[in-house]
Amino acid sequence: MEELEQVRAEIDRIDASLAALFEARMAAAAKIAAWKQANGRPIRDPAREAQVLAQGAERVAEPAMRPYYAAFQKELMALSRAYQASLGVCAGTLLPERGSLRRAAELLPKGCRVFVVTDSGVPAAYAETVAAQCDCAGVYVVPQGEASKSPETLTALLEAMLRAGLTRSDCLAAVGGGMVCDLAGLAAGLYMRGVGSYYFPTTLLAMVDAAVGGKTAVNLAGVKNAVGLFRQPKAVVIDPDTLATLPPRQLANGLAEAVKMALTHDAALFARFEDPAGYGPIEEIIAACLRIKAAVVAADEREAGLRRVLNFGHTLGHGIEAAAGGSLLHGEAVALGMLPMCAPDVRARLIPVLERLDLPTYVNFDLDAEQVLEAICHDKKSVAGGVETVTVPAVGQFAFRTAGWNELKSLLSAIIRQQGTGGADCHGQCAHWPRNDTP
Ligand SMILES: NC(=O)c1ccc[n+]([C@@H]2O[C@H](COP(=O)([O-])OP(=O)(O)OC[C@H]3O[C@@H](n4cnc5c(N)ncnc54)[C@H](O)[C@@H]3O)[C@@H](O)[C@H]2O)c1
Repeated sequence: MEELEQVRAEIDRIDASLAALFEARMAAAAKIAAWKQANGRPIRDPAREAQVLAQGAERVAEPAMRPYYAAFQKELMALSRAYQASLGVCAGTLLPERGSLRRAAELLPKGCRVFVVTDSGVPAAYAETVAAQCDCAGVYVVPQGEASKSPETLTALLEAMLRAGLTRSDCLAAVGGGMVCDLAGLAAGLYMRGVGSYYFPTTLLAMVDAAVGGKTAVNLAGVKNAVGLFRQPKAVVIDPDTLATLPPRQLANGLAEAVKMALTHDAALFARFEDPAGYGPIEEIIAACLRIKAAVVAADEREAGLRRVLNFGHTLGHGIEAAAGGSLLHGEAVALGMLPMCAPDVRARLIPVLERLDLPTYVNFDLDAEQVLEAICHDKKSVAGGVETVTVPAVGQFAFRTAGWNELKSLLSAIIRQQGTGGADCHGQCAHWPRNDTP
């Protein structure tokens, strides 16, 4: 009996040392988290984990104990990752990792209910994969399409959360494109004054843009994103494997946003889009865009200054999208909206890039310029006497300037192909285009 007490006392002493070592280890993990945050690196580092496990096994002299020590280390690394995630490292900075949807459990909180929101066009397997990893989860499906980004769908979603008895300690997971992330993110921000949200973007547009940066919204009375919150999700899990089911037009839609970021920030990324052999692995494109977006958002989360650069192509683009009455996807409208805002030599390089990506370079349908201007006027970015625009004087650079309504009208005419002209589609040095010397 006395012997047993002695051994227990020894274990207590060892546990006390372990607790101190655990604290030191987590403090080191926090430093690594800060570095990852600053460098836009993912929490998970499989190569490093394999190295740690191999080293650990060698340190245990007793071969029979090695598998147990390896299991202990694996658990320790999972805790370390969860701790890093809790420090907010992943929000907006998680890099794409194939198969990460199947490892959602590493980030999702334990012991709470997870309300998984998806839409009817997203393959059901994605939401089910996430739900299956939760202790307790339900899947809520909204109809696919922008029409679901509405106060009505938002109310129905909030009511469903209420009926499910969700409390403030539960959370919400959005599995889908930008529409689902915007809608579910807003619901998470409003429900019980806010529950945690986790995004699993499944479109390229959501991976490079919508899921990152903390903007949530629904449309109201025909005005896009009229009601919303700035609210960061707790984590964003980007699994490029989910793009395998995405229709090519939707992929191109997301690539338009990637080209936008390349044009304003990253000449090397733009050169990849110019490469006739192709732009390379999609995860590298996503990673490059995430680095740009994360840096811009970190500098100006509330869009008081620098973040407005992400609106490049969006001022005219939003107007064109609205006037096109649903015939253009967001990225397609942005592609058109970027063209008049580039210096002529940049535009000359942009056109073949857009063509290669199957994105439009001119408007070949009836477009009412007045209607476009009216839509722009409703836009939050309009200011007295005109609208704030972003221009690209050289690839990888940008400038802000206010354009008057007449000028906007002229800019628009540059992308509208006139019947029978064979195209005023921007190949020439059009007088309407902004000058290189924009402030
Ligand atoms: N919050 C932001 O910062 C931000 C930024 C850009 C865009 N947005 C918003 O994002 C929305 C557009 O996002 P989107 O382009 O992802 O559109 P979306 O969410 O409507 O998805 C497009 C279509 O693809 C389907 N889909 C999604 N994932 C799929 C997959 N893996 N395989 C097959 N089909 C799939 C959807 O069901 C839908 O029909 C707009 O509402 C826009 O305002 C928000």
